[in-house]
Amino acid sequence: MHPRNAIKKQGAASQEDMASISTVPQHVAIIMDGNGRWAKQRGLSRVEGHRAGTENIRRVIDAFAGRGVKYLTLYAFSTENWSRPRSEVNGLFRLLGQVIQRETRALHERGVHIRHLGTTDGLSSHLVRQVKEAVELTRHNTNITLSLAFNYGGRAEILGVVRRLIEEKAPPESIDEKLFASYLFTAGLPDPDLIIRTGGELRLSNFLLWQAAYSEYYATPTYWPDFDEEEIEDAIRAYSQRQRRFGGLVPTAKCKGGVAA
Ligand code: IPE
Ligand code: IPE
Ligand code: MG
Repeated sequence: MHPRNAIKKQGAASQEDMASISTVPQHVAIIMDGNGRWAKQRGLSRVEGHRAGTENIRRVIDAFAGRGVKYLTLYAFSTENWSRPRSEVNGLFRLLGQVIQRETRALHERGVHIRHLGTTDGLSSHLVRQVKEAVELTRHNTNITLSLAFNYGGRAEILGVVRRLIEEKAPPESIDEKLFASYLFTAGLPDPDLIIRTGGELRLSNFLLWQAAYSEYYATPTYWPDFDEEEIEDAIRAYSQRQRRFGGLVPTAKCKGGVAA
């Protein structure tokens, strides 16, 4: 059955509807945006918004894992976010450290494999150690891979690969997409099937530039701290209704060997 027919109604999905969705994305990547506006709406500081954002992370991991998603990638801090006021940057990294401290054991017990996408440049040695320990502790877990993208920039990532290939004197003819991808922070991860952005903007903001080549894109105006179960259902339902073609043709009854008759 075509996934388009798997969902019969547009409203909130029942449990049966969810069970009938045949196309669950294997890898979901999220641009967690809107913390500052969420806080402003409530007369709170931006850092309070980020705190509320971090409190949403556990429910989102559980919800995606419960739906069979095997890879979840969360964009928490871009290389460009360093241009924010020092107090906000410090607050963000403090919160990140607290989340890792507070959640790692519980995530480990639930079989979550934690990865970091990005560099450690400019991070405190304490945070670097915490991240390293969380990655080490959970490295053999297989239920879901949680990649935390922080101090991450897509262009910097691509430049890093180019530099390494030059340093290693890779023969030009040996450089293909597979080799290139094996040098990215995401080496070993499948490309994201679905990229979700909260907060309403319609842009990638330097996220997974290489990897997003054929990702499906979903944006919601909801601010990240309010991105809940219902929102997740909506995003997965929208994904299940997409037709992915990867530049080719969709096989139909009239199609033979992928070529339209
Ligand atoms: C997203 O929320 C978190 C980070 C970028 C670190 P923002 O802080 O960008 O929130 P808005 O976009 O200002 O509302
Ligand atoms: C993208 O949000 C980065 C993260 C969510 C970590 P930004 O708020 O930094 O993006 P722009 O500045 O609106 O493009
Ligand atoms: Mg923003």
